[in-house]
This record gives sequence, structure tokens and C-alpha cells, in this order.
Amino acid sequence: MIPQEIIRRKRDGKVLTGDEIAAFIAALTKEEISEGQAAAFAMAVFFRGMSRDETVALTLAMRDSGTVLNWDALDRPVADKHSTGGVGDNVSLMLAPIVAACGLAVPMISGRGLGHTGGTLDKLQSIPGYNVMPDEVLFRKVVREVGCAIIGQTSDLAPADRRLYGIRDVTATVESVPLITASILSKKLAAGLGSLVLDVKVGNGAFMESPEEAEALARSLVEVANGAGVKTAALLTDMNQPLADAAGNALEIVNCLDFLAGLKAGTRLEAVALAEAAEMLVQAGVASNLAEAEENARLALSSGEAMERFARMVHALGGPADFCERPDSYLERAPVRLRVPAPRDGYLAACETRAIGLAVVELGGGRKRAADPIDHRVGISELLPLGRQVSEGEPIAMVHARTKEDAERIAEDIARFYTISDAPVAAAPVILKRIG
Ligand code: URA
Repeated sequence: MIPQEIIRRKRDGKVLTGDEIAAFIAALTKEEISEGQAAAFAMAVFFRGMSRDETVALTLAMRDSGTVLNWDALDRPVADKHSTGGVGDNVSLMLAPIVAACGLAVPMISGRGLGHTGGTLDKLQSIPGYNVMPDEVLFRKVVREVGCAIIGQTSDLAPADRRLYGIRDVTATVESVPLITASILSKKLAAGLGSLVLDVKVGNGAFMESPEEAEALARSLVEVANGAGVKTAALLTDMNQPLADAAGNALEIVNCLDFLAGLKAGTRLEAVALAEAAEMLVQAGVASNLAEAEENARLALSSGEAMERFARMVHALGGPADFCERPDSYLERAPVRLRVPAPRDGYLAACETRAIGLAVVELGGGRKRAADPIDHRVGISELLPLGRQVSEGEPIAMVHARTKEDAERIAEDIARFYTISDAPVAAAPVILKRIG
């Protein structure tokens, strides 16, 4: 295999064979291909695209670049979900214990924050002692005994993706449907799933802002995953406002505990979490229809079973045994809290969701460079949903910051990020479309 010939063929718009793609990815994994060659390949794919067959071949080659987990010894269906990322999107945290309580096994490999979006791993690392990188023996034990374990990507899981993703990140080649498809699915398929639900975010806080782009990505993900033998459906969900009423690492853990305690009933967050739970349960064959599945998910919440699973997962992965009973004793709080007053009377009509995510990064809750440390305490809570009527001076959010200066600056920004209209605004639907 001569790498530059493969790059040249893709550059010229040719369709690569499965063998060519497999050979390129094998060489990439063994570091026999230079960063420059990998970047040129990514850029050629970015501009020329890939056929469905090429995308399947790329996904499978990246999946097979490392360990592929096998859960045949488990007595339950193995399932997972993946979100393309948003602001205040902490659904994975409650979804895994809910569906575990309903009879699924969920080996969830999650990521760190990317750009303006929060990452499940960063949120879990707010919990003292929680080990996001357990060895495979502990990971398997927790999935078997608790039903769910949310951890990070180990070094032997889809290593080709880790190398290529790092190169894409710094060569402006992230936003490519075939490359995103292969990147996300190689990791998910390597986790050995039987079924998968994808939450593809759409709107001004999503990577794919337009419904057309989001739908193209959703169709690619669904077709490739189903083609690889994993039963998969996608929900397109709205990201034109933060999903939860909090954004920031420890704040989203608190929000998750409130959710599991039944304190977030009737919210957009609940609608997404229950819809995804229902999809997962039906796909995995433990419920016969969506209505029955949603009822089971609600029962897992109201009985306290989902909270118990979350508590057991936290403890089994090294966190405090009584974390869910006494989160305030364990989660650190930011030293300064400041309310954001509504600048005038009216209705919250729109918000700049991406800017709200970046405000959390600015406070120290996300990274500007890959190696930056995270301040788990900071963020924004008590965010009001769009459509809400407000009076001038009434709080629309609360900023949690390290310093008074940070708090004042970000509070001013947040007030500007909202558009307030005189006329009432209808709440937009949160689940836009199902593809599968
Ligand atoms: N998340 C991933 O894992 N990969 C991508 O390419 C984009 C988002």
C-alpha cells in the first residue's frame, strides 16, 4: 500500500475500495503514516465525501483497529446511546441508570467536552473518587453487577479514531459527515453493543445547526450502524436553547440527581430522556411498544430504582457510597454566585445557545486547549426556558464563578444572549424527528 496513492485517488474524487481503506487505517494505527498524510487524507474526504460503502469500510476498519468488547456472557441486551453534543445536555447521566433499571446492560463509553459543548466524563469527574478510566475487569464487573457504567475511551478502544481525531481537530476537518460517522460509530461498535439510540442535536447550540445537515448526519449514522449489524435509530432534538436548566460540570450532576429524584417533571429534559429511554427499551426488545417502554422508564424513576442504580455505579467506580444522599458534602461549590436579571419585561423568545456554552468555558468549566484543567464548580444554573414571561429585574439565570469579576462579566453576557419579545412565544418542540 502506498498511502499517497490512496490520498491521490480520494483527492481526485475516486471511490476507494474496502481493502484500500483498511490498509490505510491499519497503517495509521501503527503510525506508519505521517500526520501530514493523515491530514491530507482527512481533507480529501472532507471535500470529496465518501459513499455509504466507503463510510462503512472506514467505520469497520477504525472499530477493528483495537479491542472489540464482547458481552455474550451477559444475560441482558447490551445497548447504548450517543449524543452529538450540546449545552446542558446531561441526558446520558440519567438515561444509563433508567434503562439499566429496566433490564438493559449499558457499557457507555463517553467523551470529554468538545468546543462549547459539555462532556459526560468532565461532569462525572466532579464526583470525588469517580474513576472514569477503570481497567476492563472493573468495567465489566460494574456493567454486570449494576447494569451501567459510564467511562472514558480506553487506549485500546478504536485507537485509529484517537489518532485521526486529534489530527482532524487541528486541521479543520471535523465537520465531515463520513468522518464524524466513522469516528462516533467506531467507538460505539467497539463497545460491543446490540442496539444504539442516537441523539442528533439541531440548532444554534449544535455542531450541525441546520435541520438538513443534522438529518444528513443522522441518516449516515443510522445506515452505517444498521449496516454494521447494530440496531440503530436517531432522534433529531432541538438545541436552540440549553436542554437542562443548568450548564457546567458539578451543576449538571446536581441537575441529574434532581431529575432522578423526580424534580424535573414536565421539562424538555424529561421529554428527551424518556423518549430516548423508550427507544432503547423497544430496540433492545424488553418492551413491545414506545408507550409501554416510557411507562417502564417512568416507573424506574418513581420507584427510586434509577437513583439507586446511579448511586451504585458511582460507588462501584470509586465514588462515595452515600453520594446521592449527601451530594452537597462532596460537590464543590463556586465561591461567587450572581443572579442574571432580565433586562426588561417580556417573553424569552430566543437565546444564543453556543455563546452560553462558551460562557461556561470562559468561566473555567471547559477547555480552551486540550491540556487545560477544568474547574468543576463553575457554570450557570436556574436557566429559564424560552417562552417564559419575565419582568424586568427577575432572575433568568444564576452564574457560578471563581471571582466577582468573572461573575459580573458573564452575567452581563448572559443577559445579552437572550432576546426578549413583547409578544408571547410558543414553546418549540424538543423532539423534531425520528430516523430509523
Ligand atoms: N464526536 C466524535 O466522537 N467524533 C467526531 O468526529 C465528532 C464528534
